[in-house]
Amino acid sequence: MGFHRKIWLAATLLAFGLAAAQASAQTIKIGMISSYSGLNGDIGPVMEKAMRLYMQEHAKDLPPGVKVELLTRDDTGPVPDKAKQLAQDLIIRDKVQLLTGVIFTPNALAIAPLVTEAKVPFVISNAGTSMITTKSPYIARVSFTLWQSSYPMGGWAAKHFKRAYTMVSDYGPGYDAEEAFTKAFKTGGGEIVGSVRVPVISPDFAPFMQRVKDTKPDALFVFVPAGATATAVMKAFGDVGLKAAGVKLIGPGDITDDQELDNMGDVALGVTTAFHYSEAADRPANKAFVAAWSKAYGLKPVPNFTAVGSWDSMDAIYYVIREQKGKIDPDKTMELLKNYKNANSPRGPISIDPNTRDIVQNEYLREVRKVNGHYINAEIETIGTAVKDPWKELNGAK
Ligand code: PHB
Repeated sequence: MGFHRKIWLAATLLAFGLAAAQASAQTIKIGMISSYSGLNGDIGPVMEKAMRLYMQEHAKDLPPGVKVELLTRDDTGPVPDKAKQLAQDLIIRDKVQLLTGVIFTPNALAIAPLVTEAKVPFVISNAGTSMITTKSPYIARVSFTLWQSSYPMGGWAAKHFKRAYTMVSDYGPGYDAEEAFTKAFKTGGGEIVGSVRVPVISPDFAPFMQRVKDTKPDALFVFVPAGATATAVMKAFGDVGLKAAGVKLIGPGDITDDQELDNMGDVALGVTTAFHYSEAADRPANKAFVAAWSKAYGLKPVPNFTAVGSWDSMDAIYYVIREQKGKIDPDKTMELLKNYKNANSPRGPISIDPNTRDIVQNEYLREVRKVNGHYINAEIETIGTAVKDPWKELNGAK
């Protein structure tokens, strides 16, 4: 073979090689919307950290040549117009193939019509109002619903208390928590002696707590968004003297978010909640998750339920990418999401209910305790196994 022919062959092979590499090297863009400022502005980074940790640990599980790019955006808190604008830009300008994230219900609802129109699968990592998933066939939820925690909590509370007061944030997840708890508590023979809805952003809880104190209930059931608002609840509960008066504080686990326990301090001790995730759970999958988080980021903050919701969202997304060998078809993606399962989530076994595209998971009864100098949500018992969203179960909603 002459020299020139050899060069030509080498060049041709190189060109073919490059073309082949280009054909298989594809990047799947995923839009992630969360709050990096405003209410719960500290949660966006937690969710992103969980997703990036997953991506780092599971890059090897992607089909050869497939890469994932996460485009993160700040919705600035419960601001639906902002969330809608961000989703629109991600879909139209950045051409993302999937959307994920979203802490707040109003934001998820604002995005729903866009993902329906554009056929962009939307994997919800937090927003917890039951009806969200009914608003688009392109939504699947990997997080939780308030009904899932508050309904079993109502049943448990009815066995321990006669008179309860409810206090919830004045928006979707608050209404769900109130309705779910009230229904189960009354069915179990309990009496609701007062209920109040408080502003979502920065309410002064003291006057509300004073009214509760005057009513002398056995228990106060509270839902507010996890984070600084829950810490404000806890402080007011202590300051107004409800804890000293022997009123038991109960609720979904949002009010004793793992990340806020150190800010809350002793007043949180003994608070009892129902929830799907505790950082302190001793399941091996959780131990491994917390260890990986600790190694990557340290334990201030510890990974909380928003971290696990985000980790599991990525697990569901990597599953649909693998099953489609890197070629994302929206309808095929939704079919796959409907049958998504993970026996080994840090929170225990999870799956998506194919009829509703909503999460199915265990609910644990937990109590805040101090162990070796750390405040934790100690899981006491499993009060619901493979719990489907009770609101959909009771109302036949899809
Ligand atoms: C919601 O807006 O759906 C939401 C926000 C924070 C929570 C739970 C639910 O802790």
